[in-house]
Amino acid sequence: MPKKLVVTSLLWVVLGLGLHSAIAQQQASAEGRPWWQHAVFYEIYPRSFADSNNDGLGDLKGITSKLDYLKELGVDAIWLTPCYPSPQVDFGYDVSDYSNIDPIYGTLDDFDRLASQAKRAGIRIIMDFVMNHTSDQHKWFLDSKSSRNSARRDWYIWRDGKGSDLPPNNWVSTFGGSAWKLDPTTRQNYYHYFYPQQPDLNWRNPAVVAAMFDVTRWWYKRGVAGFRLDAVDTLFEDPELRDNPLLGGVNRLGNPRMENKYNTKLPEVHDVLRNLRKIADQNGAVLIGETWTKNVDELKQYYGEHSDELQMPMDLMFTTVNKLSPADFRRQIAAAESAGGWPIYVIGNHDIKRSYNRYGDGVHNDEIAKLMAALYLTLRGTPIMYYGEEIGMENNDPKSKDDVRDPIGKVGWPQEKGRDGERTPMQWTDELNAGFSRVPPWLPVSTSYKTHNVATESKDPNSILNFYKRLLFLRHHEPALLDGEYVPLNQNDPNVLCYLRRYKDQAVLIVLNMSGSEQNISLDLTPHGLSAPKATALLTTLNRPPSSGDLKPILLEPFSVYIAKLSR
Ligand code: NOJ
Repeated sequence: MPKKLVVTSLLWVVLGLGLHSAIAQQQASAEGRPWWQHAVFYEIYPRSFADSNNDGLGDLKGITSKLDYLKELGVDAIWLTPCYPSPQVDFGYDVSDYSNIDPIYGTLDDFDRLASQAKRAGIRIIMDFVMNHTSDQHKWFLDSKSSRNSARRDWYIWRDGKGSDLPPNNWVSTFGGSAWKLDPTTRQNYYHYFYPQQPDLNWRNPAVVAAMFDVTRWWYKRGVAGFRLDAVDTLFEDPELRDNPLLGGVNRLGNPRMENKYNTKLPEVHDVLRNLRKIADQNGAVLIGETWTKNVDELKQYYGEHSDELQMPMDLMFTTVNKLSPADFRRQIAAAESAGGWPIYVIGNHDIKRSYNRYGDGVHNDEIAKLMAALYLTLRGTPIMYYGEEIGMENNDPKSKDDVRDPIGKVGWPQEKGRDGERTPMQWTDELNAGFSRVPPWLPVSTSYKTHNVATESKDPNSILNFYKRLLFLRHHEPALLDGEYVPLNQNDPNVLCYLRRYKDQAVLIVLNMSGSEQNISLDLTPHGLSAPKATALLTTLNRPPSSGDLKPILLEPFSVYIAKLSR
């Protein structure tokens, strides 16, 4: 059967059923799984998703207008990156009021409308909770800064410098320069792990803890289903402010390289997470953490000793595999599996170069995008897609320093171009500004919008978008893909990543040729209790897929995908 027909016929099988994921909408599945384990999450960067009022910036009404699209795609929950009032120094990650919406995105009424329409569509909303710091324009900080005796002085980290103008210690901000800023009025320094406009809150102060916990309660009352917790690693600092050990050399921003021993991952963070979790549990909510862990032991700790902290600490170690290496993926998956919790792998977000470019070879990027989708959406755990990934959006990095919007791109140019490239407007059509806005958007649309956009891809059965739709459908309907264990196969194969997902007497086989050459693989499933199984293709990009029946050696074209249901 020619490729087009295989894919088209599979599409009809899949879409012909006409159903979409009611499964993930229930509070808990038939197997007693909490809703978030069967849900597909989708990250929306509100500035760049949909612009309803044609001012060049996305907004909440824009998101509401795209709920049908998200539902049809197979999304069960959206994570909104910060849309609270903010001076926008870090595009919303500098919050000046946690209980409102920034006028550039709309109003609280717009949020309520989005929430109620999303609910009707069976889509949950999780918010981004920026816990580590506020904006320097937040009323708490303005008060704190006003005098050494202010009621909120101790809500932030203030210290005397060493001598005249020297900071209290050697810590550097991850966004460049010293992590301390001297306030000329009160002659003390405040600590900021990120930009100087993002002062760190003092989580050792019970008043801060109470105020921040109340923020989550406030949003739960408004119907949100959980939070993505920003920068949890950095909540606490060593009370003695000891210097970090230097590692020699300089980083991409020209600052001394150091081990962030005394200002990241302090054990006290776990007390906060346990208490935050109690509130989440009272509200049936999920906590997903931005957890930049170095190894699986660190990741494990974020689940909590008694699984009482984050339900899903993001496995951002997965993003360190930047090439199509079955061995590296196997290692990462095995490590995450050994953590004992419910995995949440990450392949892309608003801080990381798009997966289309990270894995693409410049020639077969569309095939590789499907390959990566097949990997990402068939692993055990909850996926968290990044907007535009489903149409193969590419990075569109600034061409010159003057074009850069993200401050780290200005500081680090040209080695560090910042994160604008992965934040460009969603490509809806092949019309002006990719149908995002009638005026030039805040970031330039990638030229790929002519071919890679929702409208065009919707009509092409072989598009990346339709491949995602079919995969998401499978994910929602195959019990083995929802709940099955991960069983690695052919572990020494350097080119083909291959595994089973097994649930009770059901098994789905996933075969991914990560190489640019043809591969012929044979599988012996006898050790897994599956001697002489029959295979029926569920989804494949092969031009000549094996016919249904006995599982025989499979001839795999470069970068191809073969997903099949096995039966005895
Ligand atoms: C992590 C967020 O993902 C990133 O975009 C932001 O700049 C920092 N935290 C600071 O909030």
